[in-house]
Amino acid sequence: MTAGIEVREGIYWVGVKDWARRSFDGLIPLPHGTSYNAYLVRGATKTALVDTVNPGFEGELLAKLTEVTDPARLDYVIMNHAEPDHAGALPAVLAAAPRAEVVLTAKGAEMAVRLYRVPEDRMRLVKDGDALDLGGKTLQFVDAPFLHWPETMFTYAVEDKVLFPCDFFGTHTAEGLYDDEVVDLTVRAQMYFGAIMMPFRKAGERALEKLSSLPIELIAPSHGPLWRHPERVLTLYRRRTAGETLHKVVVAYVSMWGSTERLVRVAAEALLRQGVQVAVHELAHVDVSDLAGELVDARAIVLGAPTVLGALHPAALNAAHLVRTLRPPLRYAAVLSSYGWGGGALRQAGEIFGPTGIEVVGTVEVHGAPGPEDEARAGALARTLAAKVTG
Ligand code: FEO
Repeated sequence: MTAGIEVREGIYWVGVKDWARRSFDGLIPLPHGTSYNAYLVRGATKTALVDTVNPGFEGELLAKLTEVTDPARLDYVIMNHAEPDHAGALPAVLAAAPRAEVVLTAKGAEMAVRLYRVPEDRMRLVKDGDALDLGGKTLQFVDAPFLHWPETMFTYAVEDKVLFPCDFFGTHTAEGLYDDEVVDLTVRAQMYFGAIMMPFRKAGERALEKLSSLPIELIAPSHGPLWRHPERVLTLYRRRTAGETLHKVVVAYVSMWGSTERLVRVAAEALLRQGVQVAVHELAHVDVSDLAGELVDARAIVLGAPTVLGALHPAALNAAHLVRTLRPPLRYAAVLSSYGWGGGALRQAGEIFGPTGIEVVGTVEVHGAPGPEDEARAGALARTLAAKVTG
């Protein structure tokens, strides 16, 4: 795809579909690829490019821009966010657009110098509420720090009622131009929220409060399809930033010789019998986005983890670390563990969960293979946890 697409009169999608990308940050699998959405906004007197694209796609971006306008006539490049997937093509764009100024926050300016060596005399700093008049089109800037870096802002096209929120409201998929063209988009949006925005729920609530005064007809994020039904993603984000949870437990486990798995199976079935929604993830093969997407609305977690060399199995350690850093709205936890000749997993799980504020309701640890009494203890713990979750 080399042509820009007009999504509103005078507003063009000039982004890139990266169908082949399979990982983000070496952390988030991308089974459906992703997109780096950039937008050209053409007023009667001035023209602005909103965000750029990932390094390696500069030529495709400039080719699409050229179909709509002469890049040399570009007046502004809006840098909503400094991360390379959106700002990495800045050097190429500025070279092709010698009179363009980069419009960014003060924190964004520091990053633009460090990451892209943008000269200070080519920057225009903006604050919350500032606006640019393009001639019949006004771009207004909304300070939105920590969504998900400190410098982030949104851009709002006032007359067209189009919001450009960069990563916020994004999804990692190369499929579809609009939200109604991807069947399970809200599921993917929830996974994206869990992996990227969940640690910043308070900042997200503040941003949504600011946006509530703006009429929005189209949300044009920098990853994934555009939301021409914006209420779909606004409703999702209101719930997720508020930390609303379900009667739901995430069971995340890894097992070496089946002992921990046996406890996990007993506990999961006991939870189901108590009417609790259960999402089980085997950690040796887990997709971080899947796990993060489940954690966004779960009230509790059961961590199943054997001891390996006096500590948590590394796959469980990674999951516990994710819980600590992604800060999901979990209230309760239980730990199921087994060991061959010496424990250590429970101690380490306690150290990780301790500072999170998540209440560890109980633990079951087995020396060797679990017998009927051990399974009974796992079932009893699950029922105690279910009472907390549904209480
Ligand atoms: Fe899509 Fe934070 O970059």
